[in-house]
This record gives sequence, structure tokens and C-alpha cells, in this order.
Amino acid sequence: MVIFGASGDLTYRKLIPALYALYNQKLLPDKFHVLGVSRTTIPDGEFREKMTEGIRKFSENIHLNDLQIEEFKSHLSYFQMDMTLEEEYSRLKSALDETNPNEGADSNYLFYLSTPPSLFSVIAGNLSKVGFSNESDGFKRLIIEKPFGYDLESSLTLNSQLHDAFLENQIYRIDHYLGKETVQNLLVMRFSNGIFEPLWNRNYVDHVEITSAESIGVEGRGGYYDGSGAIRDMLQNHLLQVVGLTAMEPPSSMDADAIRNETMKVLQSLKPIKHEDVASQVIRGQYVSSHIRGELVPGYREEKGVNPESRTETFIAMKFFIDNWRWGGVPFYIRTGKRLPTRVTEVVVHFKPTPQKLFQVDEACKSCNQLIIRIQPDEGVLLKFGLKQPGAGFNVKTVNMDFHYSELSDTHLPSAYERLLYDVMVGDSTLYARADAVEAAWKFVSPILEVWKNDPDQKIYGYPAGTWGPENADDLINDGETGWRYPCKNLADDGNYCEL
Ligand code: BG6
Repeated sequence: MVIFGASGDLTYRKLIPALYALYNQKLLPDKFHVLGVSRTTIPDGEFREKMTEGIRKFSENIHLNDLQIEEFKSHLSYFQMDMTLEEEYSRLKSALDETNPNEGADSNYLFYLSTPPSLFSVIAGNLSKVGFSNESDGFKRLIIEKPFGYDLESSLTLNSQLHDAFLENQIYRIDHYLGKETVQNLLVMRFSNGIFEPLWNRNYVDHVEITSAESIGVEGRGGYYDGSGAIRDMLQNHLLQVVGLTAMEPPSSMDADAIRNETMKVLQSLKPIKHEDVASQVIRGQYVSSHIRGELVPGYREEKGVNPESRTETFIAMKFFIDNWRWGGVPFYIRTGKRLPTRVTEVVVHFKPTPQKLFQVDEACKSCNQLIIRIQPDEGVLLKFGLKQPGAGFNVKTVNMDFHYSELSDTHLPSAYERLLYDVMVGDSTLYARADAVEAAWKFVSPILEVWKNDPDQKIYGYPAGTWGPENADDLINDGETGWRYPCKNLADDGNYCEL
């Protein structure tokens, strides 16, 4: 496995700990080698030490074994090169040829591009020129991280450049949300139970709400984030993939393409949001400085690397429809943002009320029947329904049936990268984004970006860091009966602890 951009954070925090976790579970082949590649000169020893530190710091749910870490470390080495220069790739090839006999590994290669996106097509093209896309002596797979383009046009260009060098079935586009156990569980919950699927449509579902809140700010990534914003960073990829799995039709089999065909149909059925509807259906916000638990946090425009006059959104809430037979007329709501009161990602399916109200219903029960799929943290599933309040009369109280993955204490929940890296090794692309799906998602998102760019009347609202975004986002979903589900209170004003 060759990791381009190996001196970066992703390799240290995610990739190497995930590879170690696979090694620990004996899920790596006996013969393997990981070559870190980057521009900086780093001696092998130093690279190994740094990676060991990453394993110790960032490994989750795994028992660290000193001896085993030492063994694992011996499979790592480092190679300095300028990734933009064609001639450097023959040097890389020789280095890899030398590594192979040492490790006795086959000619199966994974190339992981953990680099700025501007290098994706350059690296892919140069790898192909030195024969690294030719699979006659073993598989050659290219893994890329988002962003897959900046808008529809650039994503089409990127895909065509990648396809000049590698075949689509050799390209694995990582969306780490698809690697999350609970995101995959959406498939299993929906299609292994007879009780949910009959209700999973416009006849019984009132609306669907998807929230992905983060309490952190831009964490030193201001330079990148300012050119991206919440819509490109989270919604176009992670959240639309979650929409795909929530709304898809049953696949004909568990085959990668059968599943991806169905999620893609959902993306193709997203009803375009017209220019005149953007202001009312898409609310964007940007956090401003505020106190969180007594501590002053900077506003987005004061973050390092961010333009002090930036109009990049750190929050987005959107109402949209899926124009197909299953979902016609059912509103879907998505919101995501930085510096919100807590970190939580959940899908909430709100079912329609009974046709007639026979009983006195308590205050909290505005939308009594909700199925909440908690993607993170505290992964699990919560079903809310009404039961009789004990005592005289027939008062209804909403109760919870709550399942937490943590209760399966003997189960190892693999990290997203662990699962995804394993899948690419065995050639299973189910949990990777296909070119056409990425393009379909851009097709939906790009017109909104265009409106924001070209129409100076489009507003961006400020919200105090530590709150649930601009109040205008509430109007999206306030039909008088329901609102967004607030998993916990605001932090900014009253310093309340945010309880899920
Ligand atoms: C990344 C985004 O893709 O996902 C980050 O670039 C974001 O801005 C992160 O913080 C969220 O991932 P997770 O797994 O913490 O929900």
C-alpha cells in the first residue's frame, strides 16, 4: 500500500491506526508493506516512530500489544519524492520493486491519495504511465478522499481524468460516513425486518430529518474550509449518501453495484431547488464569537486561515423532496454545522399521526411516532411511541424503546477507515462512492452554489457559537406542529450541559 501525502494528519490519525487494527485482528495478508510517500524528507526510523505514536494515541476499541506494534512497525517505510514530477515515478517504481522481494508480497497494490485534490489526476496519470494501472500481475486500486471536485463541472473533469488512467472499478472514492457501522445498519434495519419496510414510504412517513452536528469549529483547517463550506464539506457527500441509504429501494442483491444503483437512483430523483426557492429552502449560517461553558470562543471570521469578510457557511439547513413513487411529497430536512451544542448525527423518521385522535395526548407528543437512528455517538436505535399513562382516564405518554450498540459489549465496532480499508483489499466497493453518484449529488448541489455566488441578495445568517444555528432554520420545519428534534439544549447563553 502506497500512501501519498503520508506526512499529513490523516495517515497518522486514521490510516495507520486502522491498518494496525486490521493487523491486530489478523485481517491483513501475511505479506504486506506500507510505503509512506511525501515531499518532506523523513528518515524511515522517524516515520515509524511517528506512526507508532499515532497508533497509541488514536486507536479505538482495540487492545494494544507492544510486541505486535513492533512487528507491525517493521512493515512500514518512507519514500521522499516530488509527486508532481513525472520522472520521480520511475524512482518510486524501483523502490517498490525492491520492497516487494523483501516482503515477498505479490504485485497487488493499493494507492491511497491523501493529498490536495489538485494532485489526484497528476498522481493517477503518472502511476498509469509507469504501468501501475495494469492489472496483469495483480490488482491495482486507487483510493481517493473527498473533495471529488468543487462543483458539477470540476467533478466531471476529475472523473474523466481519472478514467484516462484507471478503470472505474479500480477507483475507490472514500466517503468515511459509509464506513460507519450505524450507516451500514440503515440497510440491515430496513431490509432484514418485515416491520419497518411496509411503513417506509409516503403513505406513513410524515417527514424525515437528518442532523449532523459538530461541536468543534474549523480546528486549524480554516484555509481549506473557507474555500469549501458546510455544503461541500458535509452535505454534498456524507449526508446525501445517508439520504441515499435511507430512501433507496431494496437492492436486487447485496452486490456492490446492485446497492449503488439504488442509492444513485435516489440522488437522481432529488427535486432540483429552483433559484426563487433557494432563500426559503436553504438556510445558511456562520458562527460568531460567543461564550461556551464560560469560555470565549472566536467567531468563524476570526479563525486562522479564514478571510475576515468570509461568506462561507459553517451551517446549512435544507428542505427538499425526492421525486419518486415512494417519497413524492414527503419533505426531507437536513442540517449540519460546526460549533453547534453537541456532536451528534442522527436520522429521524417521523411517522404520520393516527387518522383520528381518540385519546388525550401529552404535551411532548407532537410527533409521537419517531424512529431515531443514532449514527454517532452512542450508536443505536430509538423508537418513540405512545402508551397509556398509568391511572385514571386514557392519557397518552410518549415512551422510548432504546437500543445502544454499547450494550453489545463483546462486539468490536470497527472504525470507518478500518472497515473501508479492509473492503478495498478484498475488492468490495459497496461502501465507496461511484462516479455517477458523485456527479448526481453535484447536479443537485451546484445550482444552489451558483445562486449563492451570483445573487447578492442571498443571506447568510450569524449564529452564536454553541447554539443550534440561525433561528431562520426553524422556519423551514415549523409547520406549527413539529420542529427540529433538539437532542440537547443550547450551550451558548446559559452554559447548560448538553445532554443527549
Ligand atoms: C469530514 C469533514 O469529511 O468529516 C470535517 O471534512 C468533519 O469537516 C468530518 O468534521 C466529520 O466526520 P465525523 O466522522 O466526525 O462525523
